[in-house]
Amino acid sequence: MEEGKKFYPTGAYADLRKKALEDPEGFWANEARNIPWFRQWDRTLNWEEPFAKWFEGGLTNASYACLDAHLDSHTRNKVAYYWEDEFGNTRTLSYLQLWAEVNRLASALRMAGVKKGDIVMIYLPMIPELPVSMLALARLGAPHSIVFSGFSSQALADRITDTGAKMLITADFGLRRGKYIPLKVIADQAVRTCPTIRNVVVVRRGPAEQEVDMEEGRDVYYHDLLKNGDAFIEPEKVESAHPLYILYTSGTTGKPKGIVHSTGGYMVFCKSTFKWVFDPRPEWIYWCTADIGWVTGHTYIVYAPLVSGTTSFMFEGSPDYPSIERWWELIERYGINIFYTSPTALRMFMRFGEDPIRKHDLRSLRLLGSVGEPINPEVWEWYFKAIGGERCPIVDTWWQTETGGVLISPAPGCGLVPLKPGSATFPLPGIDVGIVDDQGKPVQDGTRGLLVIRRPWPGMLMTLHQDPKRYTEVYWSRFKGMYLAGDYAIRDGEGYLWLLGRADETLKVAGHRLGTAEIESAAVSMHFVAEAAVVGVPDQVKGEEIVLFAILRQGNNPSPELRKKLSDGIRTLIGPIAVPKEIHFVGKLPKTRSGKIMRRILKALATGTGIGDVSTLEDATSVEEIKRTYEEMKAMMAQK
Ligand code: PRX
Repeated sequence: MEEGKKFYPTGAYADLRKKALEDPEGFWANEARNIPWFRQWDRTLNWEEPFAKWFEGGLTNASYACLDAHLDSHTRNKVAYYWEDEFGNTRTLSYLQLWAEVNRLASALRMAGVKKGDIVMIYLPMIPELPVSMLALARLGAPHSIVFSGFSSQALADRITDTGAKMLITADFGLRRGKYIPLKVIADQAVRTCPTIRNVVVVRRGPAEQEVDMEEGRDVYYHDLLKNGDAFIEPEKVESAHPLYILYTSGTTGKPKGIVHSTGGYMVFCKSTFKWVFDPRPEWIYWCTADIGWVTGHTYIVYAPLVSGTTSFMFEGSPDYPSIERWWELIERYGINIFYTSPTALRMFMRFGEDPIRKHDLRSLRLLGSVGEPINPEVWEWYFKAIGGERCPIVDTWWQTETGGVLISPAPGCGLVPLKPGSATFPLPGIDVGIVDDQGKPVQDGTRGLLVIRRPWPGMLMTLHQDPKRYTEVYWSRFKGMYLAGDYAIRDGEGYLWLLGRADETLKVAGHRLGTAEIESAAVSMHFVAEAAVVGVPDQVKGEEIVLFAILRQGNNPSPELRKKLSDGIRTLIGPIAVPKEIHFVGKLPKTRSGKIMRRILKALATGTGIGDVSTLEDATSVEEIKRTYEEMKAMMAQK
């Protein structure tokens, strides 16, 4: 049905998609031959819904695939990472040099007791030691769990507790807008409540004169540890389904979900999607501006570019510091060819106009990418013209922490289709996308529905850490045989997919995924808050912003001091990214008879847009009741 339509991929690309869906296992087995294996798999897919084991019987290692496998080719002396920080400090690591440091660290970690299956936490800023640590752990078969270095000590402690990790790798300081952030102090606070941690490895990167406290017997400097390491350590031959990492992401309950990714299937997916989406020439330099603390960085700063032998540029710093020209200056100086960033960053730059951009020669750019949230068509146009000089295709890549890699995107590596600003175009080969209604039935083209994936793919999460039940419930129980992505989407008359944002109670603030429940539970954990409800409201730069409604406990009165206390509390419990833009103290929260918060009313109050058409509300509450509650709330808020 699909392929005959006007804009659908044609020619070789259409054949590839067709072949992939007709014989997915044969297709993925073919793709799997593009990464190195110590032992070939016996079975391409063992699918016991909802648990997929890809390339069963196969043995591989991610560090081997990313490093050793390149040493016999000209990639050996090719740059793996150019790195630069805000101060202009630089470091360049060839594939050989990266391999050498990874081996030395892996060997030293082995001597320190890390072995296959041990989970090790990483809380590091964007420094080369971060990919080195990931790859060293992968070499030992020890899954890493990275916590974004902007998260608070409490968020770090929660994740350490969930994994039961014995080791943490951190740094003395992080760097943000010219200031050193005391990461070790934050890590120490977290470790105080995590008795499982026995060793803390500390990378020194702060100013030489600033010492940090080191606990005797527990803490060791990374560079001292390296000195113990041998020059080479055999990579552990791990089963394809051996976990490569656990990465926590927000869901609809207060507790973040520990997404578990495999080694074999994930690496195959890294290799294939990187080729299809970014189509890098061997000499190209690629820059993904994400932080490695998020999935975009895991996959498209570390594993995918390295397994593909690509040269990446890695930057530690903010886009607008010390000036709004910083990124353009870097693109010019490093001759970046592929640039992959977020709509939030683009919207921020747009406000400053094109002058800061015109001062720089961006003609090295060949391909532009976008990720993390829907890109508004006008932002897409601006990206295409102002940054890409109308020469570079834009790959709008839709995916999730759970999917491991891109599922929906233009694929220049397969054959470029005409692009439509704001549409992620088509699923990649082998990805079977559906858009369904509440009952799981496909909706008509042009009608909004829930995005589902109708068969497993190699990069798919394997489970939630120690919670297979929640994994099954969240992703596979609403509709039989379909992975529920949690997003709304529309397929237009020409088959293009338009991703419309989350269909559940998670927010995307500046591209960061946050659960409303997570912020609410942080709020109510403060002694003066009785109840809290969070909604996302549109924001011109960040896409969405957080608005919090809180009922104070008896004996507390609304005041600027309490508002600040509440903000600070959320900052301490989760991190700066979760701090609400607005806090409203209210006497009650609008709820349905069954006790569900009527978020739509709160949204209307927060945006001041009025309640609009309420006849389409899904819950059983009467229209009258909603209108009445809305008016009551509005009057209540107006009194203050
Ligand atoms: O809502 C979708 C949005 O980001 C969500 C996944 O967030 P996270 O797990 O943090 O991963 C982000 C980076 C891969 C999705 O459910 N999203 C991601 N990319 C796009 C997008 N929404 C629209 N268009 C995109 N290109």
